[in-house]
Amino acid sequence: MDKKIEVIKGDITKLEVDAIVNAANTTLLGGGGVDGAIHRAAGPQLLEECKALGGCPAGDAKITMAYNLPAKYVIHTPGPVWRGGKGGEATLLASCYRKSLALAVTHDCKTIAFPAISCGVYGYPLDQAVEIAVREVMAFLEKDDSLKKVYFVCFGDDIYREYERVLK
Ligand code: AR6
Repeated sequence: MDKKIEVIKGDITKLEVDAIVNAANTTLLGGGGVDGAIHRAAGPQLLEECKALGGCPAGDAKITMAYNLPAKYVIHTPGPVWRGGKGGEATLLASCYRKSLALAVTHDCKTIAFPAISCGVYGYPLDQAVEIAVREVMAFLEKDDSLKKVYFVCFGDDIYREYERVLK
């Protein structure tokens, strides 16, 4: 099962996978960080499709086409804003991973790439976020055999090191 999980450094918008996950906000209308990068690379049609979705609550996920991206789909999931950890952040973050994986499977995806949801402007402590991400993906892969590869895409060395630590 470990072979199905790969930690890589780089820009998620460049990946030729079935689905890339976007660390979105609840409006689904774009923003900064990885969300901004995905919208810029996908082109304006992505925003048009997102406008029709009517937003998305934190912890949930919605899927769109990927337009000019090499991926087939974008799965948009608003992570929780870190407020100290007592506001159900861990449950919401776990739900982002589970819902995204489930959506990928219902759309027949075999490969999916995640950024470190909530670890940028939303301020989630890296170590805790990475533990949740790894735990949820491993649990999902244990009961579902259709996904062949899950990538954790790290935009910085600090995040890469955290994944390496947790996966050991
Ligand atoms: N490829 C992979 N990872 C990236 C890329 C990229 N091109 N760009 C940034 N990251 P953030 P959040 C990493 O802030 O914390 C947006 O404005 C980044 O280094 O993008 O969930 C949304 O609209 C970090 O590790 O997302 C929301 O308002 C991780 O992606 C808000 O930010 C997530 O950082 C969501 O905040």
